[in-house]
Amino acid sequence: MKSKILIVDDEVSQTALLKGFLEKKGYEVTTEQDPLNAITLVRNQEFDLMIADYRMPKMNGLQLIKTIREIDPEIGMIMASAFGNIETAVEVIKSGASDFMTKPIDLKELLVLIDRSIDKKDLLVENRQLKDILKEKFKFENIIGSSNALSEVMSMVQRCAKSSANVIIRGESGTGKEMIATALHFASQRKDRTFIKVNCAALPESLLESELFGHIKGSFTGAISDRKGKFEEADGGTIFLDEIGEISLTTQSKLLRVIQEKEIERVGSNQTLKVDVRIITATNKNIEEAVEQKEMREDLYYRLNVVPIYIPPLKARREDIIQLIDHFILKYSKENQKTISGITQEAKSILVKYDYPGNIRELENIIERAIVIARDEVITKKDIPVTVTSVQKED
Ligand SMILES: Nc1ncnc2c1ncn2[C@@H]1O[C@H](COP(=O)(O)OP(=O)(O)OP(=O)(O)O)[C@@H](O)[C@H]1O
Ligand SMILES: [Mg+2]
Repeated sequence: MKSKILIVDDEVSQTALLKGFLEKKGYEVTTEQDPLNAITLVRNQEFDLMIADYRMPKMNGLQLIKTIREIDPEIGMIMASAFGNIETAVEVIKSGASDFMTKPIDLKELLVLIDRSIDKKDLLVENRQLKDILKEKFKFENIIGSSNALSEVMSMVQRCAKSSANVIIRGESGTGKEMIATALHFASQRKDRTFIKVNCAALPESLLESELFGHIKGSFTGAISDRKGKFEEADGGTIFLDEIGEISLTTQSKLLRVIQEKEIERVGSNQTLKVDVRIITATNKNIEEAVEQKEMREDLYYRLNVVPIYIPPLKARREDIIQLIDHFILKYSKENQKTISGITQEAKSILVKYDYPGNIRELENIIERAIVIARDEVITKKDIPVTVTSVQKED
């Protein structure tokens, strides 16, 4: 598809020249002399880029940029002016333009700037779409199950989403802790800001610290340049610290400082940075025991445990199993391009009675596997692993 460019300039000869040139280069070009009409155009049509003159009657360039930016947060904008100086250029960029160039326009330079602006716009659009997909995926409707136990969890999520209180999510492996943490972020006022996940068990202590708080060049072997930590990246948003039971006492005291003072220091630096981050943690460990054993600081435990959410194991909410089976059959037959329409009664009753030590992740794997190996249009007992069918309890 051709990229769409809008040229706004009160000098007709200038716009005609540019239009001819850019159309030859494969762009779809619209021209407009009046900035007020240009605003109406952007309101009603989608453009990838606007190239505008800085000095025009009726409206100055800065005002035009600001207005257009409000209408379209993603459109590229290049300002051109015969009276360019550094101050104007800085002001133009600050107001939301992608670039500034001086007249007479150097056509080669213009093509480079157009490319750059359109790439940047595409990236912004892609980012927004990815975010929208995530938001869609973690809408409450996609969290399957209507047991009392799960409804209680969801009601808790809803009630604490609006606050910035720290939340700790407890539950066995595979119960959906990460899913609930993500849903909580996307239900909160921070939903348009960053959501960062860190698995605290995946990194050795020294690396975890620099991962969380960043470091400066030379602070340890291998620190070849300054690096931002996850807390800085999550500023204004939410950080999800998975397996919080695994962090060392040193990192715990730094974490406590983020919570109490809302500030961090990069490893090796003594400069303090302010951050505003909501902390959601998760663990499948008995954290109270860790506090008793002095492996977990008690003060930190209280700070993290402001709102505790407990997700019961799947065997304690068997009502959810049937709904989850249907959900995963749909999901994985789509993913594997198979037309599996259901599951036999026999297979279903085996699955409803099974205890799922691996909880929902285990059920999900069982269904995915069954979909892949099923020969018929329905899942039968043969498609379920023997490890599951052989432990069947009698009615
Ligand atoms: N209620 C639910 N509805 C649909 N899918 C779910 C639900 N709960 C969990 N899942 C799915 O089950 C899988 C495991 O969930 P998740 O990773 O959130 O669990 P977890 O508690 O973080 O596990 P672990 O302790 O092993 O890290 C994921 O694929 C998730 O999408
Ligand atoms: Mg997890």
